[in-house]
Amino acid sequence: MSGKLVVLTCGGGNGAHCLAGLAAVRPDIESRVLTMYADEAERWAANLDSGFIITVHNDDGTIKSIKTKPSLVTKDPKKAVPGVDYIFIVVPAFAHAMYFEAMAPYIDDNTVIVGLPGQAGFEFECVNLLGDKAKRCTMVTFESLPWACRLIEFGKNVEILGFKDTLGASLLKGKECNLTKPIIETTQYILGEKPKVRHVQNYIAITLMAKSIVHPPIMYGKWSQWDGKPLSEKPLFYQGLDERQAELLSGVSDECVATAKAIEKKVPGLDMSDVIHVFDWYLNYYSDQITDKSNLMMAMKTNKAYDGLVHPMKEIETGKYVPDFTYRYMAEDVPEGIVPMKGIAELAGVSTPYLDEVITWCQGKLNKEFLVGNKLTGKDLKDTRAPQKYGYNKLEDLFTGSFEVTPQ
Ligand code: NAI
Repeated sequence: MSGKLVVLTCGGGNGAHCLAGLAAVRPDIESRVLTMYADEAERWAANLDSGFIITVHNDDGTIKSIKTKPSLVTKDPKKAVPGVDYIFIVVPAFAHAMYFEAMAPYIDDNTVIVGLPGQAGFEFECVNLLGDKAKRCTMVTFESLPWACRLIEFGKNVEILGFKDTLGASLLKGKECNLTKPIIETTQYILGEKPKVRHVQNYIAITLMAKSIVHPPIMYGKWSQWDGKPLSEKPLFYQGLDERQAELLSGVSDECVATAKAIEKKVPGLDMSDVIHVFDWYLNYYSDQITDKSNLMMAMKTNKAYDGLVHPMKEIETGKYVPDFTYRYMAEDVPEGIVPMKGIAELAGVSTPYLDEVITWCQGKLNKEFLVGNKLTGKDLKDTRAPQKYGYNKLEDLFTGSFEVTPQ
């Protein structure tokens, strides 16, 4: 082969264009794309010869255009995967399983598989679908996307509106995986200078810090008392936050922190201090953009990054809106978000009244049954990424077996 680092991006959306494009500008990286959704591969490949543009909006107001060109765009895993060193999965969590299944036969030993972002339960799903091969690979979970980004024209132009300053990533390393290059540094090189990648202590800590905790409590707080009458405009999601919604979010976050503390007590030597309350997280990550830091509600309402963002709504007739409970704020952030967190809390023996209340309402809207009372024994647990679905029935199961939980 070329001697280059071979990086595969899975997906064809906003983030996938950014990653594939940024990797491709490095002369010693071969950047490939696997996108299996609809006709994306055909459409992107048809334009590949002319490459595409990443338009970067810098903090100082300047704009930079980066011309870039991945070497391959295909929907065929047999062509895309062999010889790959790093696989970045850059699609919403509900599409992860499809990629794991399709790629499994072709993934080489010692491959690094990155969830960008991973979302809760990424590693459980990966280990489950890769089987024995996972022991010879390493999984990396990023807590979010590095960029606020959007496609301007598919296969031709993507816009980066902002970079996060830092971004957490955890590692779960197969005990039979042998890598010569350091993973965090290599991942940083692929992404470029920003954001600064921060090594989070372990994959359970990053799961309990996943930002999927934010949307479901706000949806519940906003819509559980709704009278069913259509609204004449879409309500603001963050700027419209009220005390009840902030209390629900804070309560869910408290339960994740309590779970981390319980785990730390029960698993000797494990450091879970990366799991912090969502209010502290906002103060750390959005420090420059928040004008009122007095409490969680005001911090979210006055966070510039959230200006103008509205609730997901469906227009049922001109100018009449109803909430869209099928949007990813619920459809993704419950089964691949707060349900796996509840599963971890259950294994840690932590009671979670806030999570239970939010999940109970959300599952009704999603027409699913995950929770029965306060236990994850519902018939639709199979549609989630809770650890219980994969046979983890004791807390120790999360930290023993064929994987190094705190590799350096
Ligand atoms: P996106 O919405 O652009 O992803 C769409 C892509 O996902 C499609 O182009 C397709 O390749 C794939 N896809 C969609 N439906 C599919 C299906 N049914 N089967 C298979 N593949 C399907 O996602 P984006 O914006 O790149 O974000 C990726 C993840 O990062 C998401 O989980 C999102 O919540 C998160 N995120 C995105 C941010 C952004 O600024 N775009 C910011 C922070 C987080």
